[in-house]
Amino acid sequence: MLNHPLARLDRDGKLRKRLLPFCRLKPGEVWRDERKGHSVGCFEAASREDVMSLCGRRRASLAIHDLPYNFIAFDSRKTDEFIEWLYAVIANTDEVLAKNSSLYLWIGADQKNGFTPLPELMLMMRDTNFTARSFITLRNQRGYGTQKNWMSVRQELLYYTKGSPKFAPQYTDIPKALKGYYKEVNGQMTENTERGRADTIRAGNVWIDVQQVFYRMEENVNGCYAQKPLKAIARIIQASSSSGDNVLDFFSHSGTTLLAAEMTGRRCLTMDIDPIFCEITIRRIEHFRQTGRTGWQNSNPFARELEQIK
Ligand SMILES: C[S@@+](CC[C@H](N)C(=O)[O-])C[C@H]1O[C@@H](n2cnc3c(N)ncnc32)[C@H](O)[C@@H]1O
Repeated sequence: MLNHPLARLDRDGKLRKRLLPFCRLKPGEVWRDERKGHSVGCFEAASREDVMSLCGRRRASLAIHDLPYNFIAFDSRKTDEFIEWLYAVIANTDEVLAKNSSLYLWIGADQKNGFTPLPELMLMMRDTNFTARSFITLRNQRGYGTQKNWMSVRQELLYYTKGSPKFAPQYTDIPKALKGYYKEVNGQMTENTERGRADTIRAGNVWIDVQQVFYRMEENVNGCYAQKPLKAIARIIQASSSSGDNVLDFFSHSGTTLLAAEMTGRRCLTMDIDPIFCEITIRRIEHFRQTGRTGWQNSNPFARELEQIK
């Protein structure tokens, strides 16, 4: 395993200065992918003009927004400011989502630092065109806080819809263990494992089968502090969109949604306010196309350049 770790890019100003010259996009610019039609823009999600530059006339059936909190662009903004900003992001999303579409919002909580905007976010969403459909959570098993708390960091996934979008149930790799749930079907008493179509259980709304990303996993992108697992994003895409659809993600970071969209035959329209994360997103898809690898494990997207300018 190569060993070229990279510091968290939001916390290392010197490293950011070294990396910026290698970034293809400046604020306001877009990278258009000639092969599969994806787009990556260096934009502000709350700006209507930026969102329209990214999407043009294209409309999407799905948006997956993994909201930033307390980092880079925010510097600990207060909850009400965050909600006000988010209201503009949701209005922009609504405008570029199709009549029948789904919206997933990841919202973390950092209880150690007192940032818990979930209740305000849920109330704000009542004031939009979206209907709340489910509330999914991921099992967190890594990270700080486990000795003194159940765990202080959370990752909630809120599922909203507009109109009547597609939904395809998703299955885990976990075998059906519970037997003996009998029910009469066509006059015959049947056991639950006979009735179901799959040998494994459905994903449900507590995802215990998704591993958080860490440096030993191939998909790891060093320098990205908030990377979501490909498995989780691919599950959302497969449940709530069809092949050939456009998928939105206004907070690209390590480019997980773009990569999952490519792997599942969708087109991704994504952005990040930070040119470094835009570059990482573009490099991740290029790296995947060249090598078939989903990330850099314990190396990093800028390893070659950093070696040369040592
Ligand atoms: C939580 S991360 C997203 C992680 C992503 N789902 C992944 O798997 O890599 C949030 C990202 O939002 C970006 N961001 C922060 N403020 C933004 C804004 N106003 N507009 C667009 N992007 C922003 C940050 O630079 C960061 O990369």
